[in-house]
Amino acid sequence: MAAATGAVLKTALSLRKSEWMGQALRPTSVNTSAQSQSYNATALSVRAGAYSEELIKTAKRVASPGRGILAMDESNATCGKRLASIGLENTEANRQAYRQLLVSAPGLGQYISGSILFEETLYQSTTDGKKMVDVLVQQDIVPGIKVDKGLVPLAGSNDESWCQGLDGLASRCAAYYQQGARFAKWRTVVSIPNGPSALAVKEAAWGLARYAAIAQDNGLVPIVEPEILLDGEHGLERTFEVALKVWAEVFFYLAENNVLFEGILLKPSMVTPGAECKDRASPETVAQYTLNLLRRRVPPAVPGIMFLSGGQSEVEATLNLNAMNQAPNPWHVSFSYARALQNTCLKTWAGRPENVDAAQKILLVRAKANSLAQLGKYSAEGESAESKEGMFVKGYTY
Ligand code: 13P
Repeated sequence: MAAATGAVLKTALSLRKSEWMGQALRPTSVNTSAQSQSYNATALSVRAGAYSEELIKTAKRVASPGRGILAMDESNATCGKRLASIGLENTEANRQAYRQLLVSAPGLGQYISGSILFEETLYQSTTDGKKMVDVLVQQDIVPGIKVDKGLVPLAGSNDESWCQGLDGLASRCAAYYQQGARFAKWRTVVSIPNGPSALAVKEAAWGLARYAAIAQDNGLVPIVEPEILLDGEHGLERTFEVALKVWAEVFFYLAENNVLFEGILLKPSMVTPGAECKDRASPETVAQYTLNLLRRRVPPAVPGIMFLSGGQSEVEATLNLNAMNQAPNPWHVSFSYARALQNTCLKTWAGRPENVDAAQKILLVRAKANSLAQLGKYSAEGESAESKEGMFVKGYTY
């Protein structure tokens, strides 16, 4: 295992910028023939799909200053765990009541530019008969949709997983577009304690790239999310090395699949120590490592980097984002949080109609805090003890 890990790292460290940007092909593909030259030209050409202009506009809208994404795309199983934490049954009516509370929070669009929905919510209406999608659009929030079909064991790997969902994806994306979605999300994961094996990284990167090409063909801006799980005792340096490797592969395959970089959004994990590592890192250190990762791997053509929270506490996720925005950088560095936006809101609601107003106000507090962090103007002064509680769960699924 150690040898395999060493090999992964060696590859990571030896990858040069030209390799992941699609400006050069892997040695096995390169030759001096005319065939090779035309292959290169295809890889470099800007995707001239029917939706190119719209994709670029949508991505820019989602990546607008002082705003970010509210992720509320928990699968029914995961939503059930959230509801159980406040003593509610996992019924469609309870999921509807909670999602309605979120999308209709007054003033949400000031801080939230996009919202990722689970399929059920995309087709669902509020209790007073308005489509959830229309409520979002009225709030100036772009509706998005989770299109992956979840994680399953990756045969032949070190107990790792891969993400399903490519079968039938084109027709599903076309239907989601008709239903009002304008961006998509595909979350796959990489585990540091389990390797990650070269196989798992390649599978994750290839799946993301195929998904991204298919989503763009059907008018949806793909959010590309290879989550590097927080699980483990490893330090920050190790997360950094693995992230370099993962993003090198992701961009290599995105380029190989002719994905239009101006029409994607990224959803990376921040570079933090493993959840069980004794040495914790300050927001400044997390920001320094994470920005270094972006500098080395992410072309400025990518319009938005929307970080996931991954089990950090609400305040921690906001502080880290704020630290990244203390100085100008070439990207729009923002948030696409689920747990770090919803946690105190869910607890405040507790399934009681009389708490809806208070819960919506708390959601606004978190959304505003992250909006300020996107602008580099957040201060944690006055934050509640609850918002500082970590939410890490071992082997978390979505
Ligand atoms: P968290 O912010 O809870 O890690 O959300 C992850 C995610 O992929 C939601 O869409």
